[in-house]
Amino acid sequence: MTTEVPEPGPNQAERTHAAAGGDVDVMAISPVREEGMLDDARLDDPFDADIVAKAQNLIARYPQSRSALLPMLHLVQSVQGYVSQEGIAFCGRHLDLTDAEVSAVATFYTMYKRQKCGEHLVSVCTNTLCAALGGDAIYQKLQTHLGSEDKPLGHQQTVGEPGEQGSIMLEHAECLAACDLGPVLQVNYEYYDNQTVDSAVELVDALRRGEKPAPTRGAPLSDFKSAELQLAGFFPEDERTYRADVDGPSHAPETLAGAKLAEDRGWAAPAMADNVAMPEVEKK
Ligand code: FES
Repeated sequence: MTTEVPEPGPNQAERTHAAAGGDVDVMAISPVREEGMLDDARLDDPFDADIVAKAQNLIARYPQSRSALLPMLHLVQSVQGYVSQEGIAFCGRHLDLTDAEVSAVATFYTMYKRQKCGEHLVSVCTNTLCAALGGDAIYQKLQTHLGSEDKPLGHQQTVGEPGEQGSIMLEHAECLAACDLGPVLQVNYEYYDNQTVDSAVELVDALRRGEKPAPTRGAPLSDFKSAELQLAGFFPEDERTYRADVDGPSHAPETLAGAKLAEDRGWAAPAMADNVAMPEVEKK
C-alpha cells in the first residue's frame, strides 16, 4: 500500500521571494509586507514592524528559510542585547522551526548570549599564545577592576545596567585569530592588539566613561547592538565610508615577519606537482 505524500506548500522564503517579485536583488527590497504581517509584528513585541521587515528580508536571501537562523539570532541580539526566550520564539515562528531547534543552535555558538549584554562586549583572548604573553593576567585584572577583589566579575557578567552607556560584559575567549598581535582583546568584535594590563585597564575605563577609543584596525567602535545588526547583514546607511574603514590594510609587521624572513633568505616552498594522485580512500 502506498501513501500519497502531499506536495509541500511554499516555505516562508518562497512566499517572501514571491511577494518580493521573484528574481530581484533581495538586498535592495524595501520592507516586504505580507498579509497579516503587522498583526504578527504586534504579537512579536518587542520585535516591531521594522524588525519583522528585516527578518523577512533575511529569509528572502535563502532558498530554505531555516538557513536564515544564524543572522536572525544576530538580529534578535541587535534588539535585546541577548537571545531571550521571546527571541527564540520569534525565530521559530518565522522560520518554521520549533523553539527546541532554535535553542539548540543559540546555545551552541558562543556569539549568542543568554544574558543581557552591556553596551559593550569585551572579549579577552586567553588561548595558549595570548595567555602566555599576558592574556591571563589581563583577564584577571579586568575581572577585579570591573568587579572587586572580593567579587571579581565572572565570565559573561556585566558591570553597569545592561545596555546603558558605559556598561560592559566581560568574557574570556578562545583564539581570536590574531595570535601574531597577542595579547589581543576585542570590543564588540573590533580588535585591540598588543595589549598590556595597563592598556586594557585604560581601555575599559574609557568605555565606562562613555568614550569609544579607536580600535587598532578595522571599523570604528560602535556598541554591541549596532555590531549585532551588522552581523545580521544590515550596514550603516553611509556604507561606502564604512566599507573604506573596514577594507583598510589589516596586516602588521608581525603578520608578515615569516614571509619577510623567507624572502630575505631566498626560501621558497617546493612547487606543487600538476598531477598529484589522491590517496585511495578505504571503502566502507
Ligand atoms: S591565541 Fe590569542 S589570538 Fe590566537
